[in-house]
Amino acid sequence: MALRTRITEMLGIEHPIVQGGMMNVGYAELASAVSNAGGLGIITALTQPSPDALRNEIERCRAMTDKPFGVNMTIFPSINPPDYRAYAQAIIDGGVTIVETAGTAAVRDIWAMLKPHGVIILHKCTAVRHALSAEKAGCDIISIDGFECAGHPGEDDVPGLVLIPAAADKVKIPLLASGGFGDARGLVAALALGAEGINMGTRFCATKEAPIHDKVKQAYVANDERGSRLIFRSFNNTARVGLNSVSEEVVRRLAKPDAVFEDVRELVAGVKGKELLRTGDLDAGVYWAGIVQGLIYDIPTCQELIDRIVDGAERIISERLGSMAA
Ligand SMILES: Cc1cc2nc3c(=O)[nH]c(=O)nc-3n(C[C@H](O)[C@H](O)[C@H](O)COP(=O)(O)O)c2cc1C
Repeated sequence: MALRTRITEMLGIEHPIVQGGMMNVGYAELASAVSNAGGLGIITALTQPSPDALRNEIERCRAMTDKPFGVNMTIFPSINPPDYRAYAQAIIDGGVTIVETAGTAAVRDIWAMLKPHGVIILHKCTAVRHALSAEKAGCDIISIDGFECAGHPGEDDVPGLVLIPAAADKVKIPLLASGGFGDARGLVAALALGAEGINMGTRFCATKEAPIHDKVKQAYVANDERGSRLIFRSFNNTARVGLNSVSEEVVRRLAKPDAVFEDVRELVAGVKGKELLRTGDLDAGVYWAGIVQGLIYDIPTCQELIDRIVDGAERIISERLGSMAA
């Protein structure tokens, strides 16, 4: 049995499993390993210091896999924004035909650049209303990210168990379920809830090919489902990060009623988070991590992980659920 959905068909992949864009993790090593295992690997554009570096990274990934892979472009308001259009041009020049976008409505300028080149747009959002407006604006696949997710879960606090079917009731284009997925049970649940595949971030960080320090991978294994913290809630820019002394301190400082971003700026600096992933110094900064840590018990290769999820899902459907329905 193979799990065929509109998403496997549209993306030309074997299994309905996508690796979400991940800052400082989504390099060619991980993206190609996921794609070679039959999923969709994704390079993170802004992890590259320049559009030319992204061109090279796309070439590097192409040398490591002959399967489809994508590129993530995340757009958040920033004081010194990168040249997003130049990054998008590098994607076009590199012949990449699948792009995952996330962030503000400004991503639509990027869609307008990419779509004439036949690029499939997979847009990640955290609310049904945003999914509907992205569908109307012409994206091809919605990745709906529940409250469980690492990164930015939005401000509505709706977990996947309700968010995914609520989106499936309204959105007509295919849906990827994201946030909290890490095993075969999650994949079957996502399909049952109306999605046509899953997107995983945290789970792929705890794989052999993830280009981060082993101590960080071990932390994802050691943490249970309580191993994350929500920061920046008071700025309406909620972020789910791993539990460590720094995220605890950020929560503590921002709990004061008059707290401002300056109070935590140095703790949450991107360079420190990057340093943490590189050196394995778990108290160097903040790092993204989801609730799914409670379901991560080992550090397999991407091939082992994807095989395990797909084989397990097929068994749950044909044996466990099949015998219940008999
Ligand atoms: C280390 C890490 C970095 C991430 N960076 C980004 C990013 O740059 N852009 C983005 O859209 N999502 C980012 N995410 C979110 C993932 O793409 C994905 O939506 C999320 O991890 C799904 O939830 P899960 O971790 O429960 O699987 C990141 C997640 C992790 C774990």
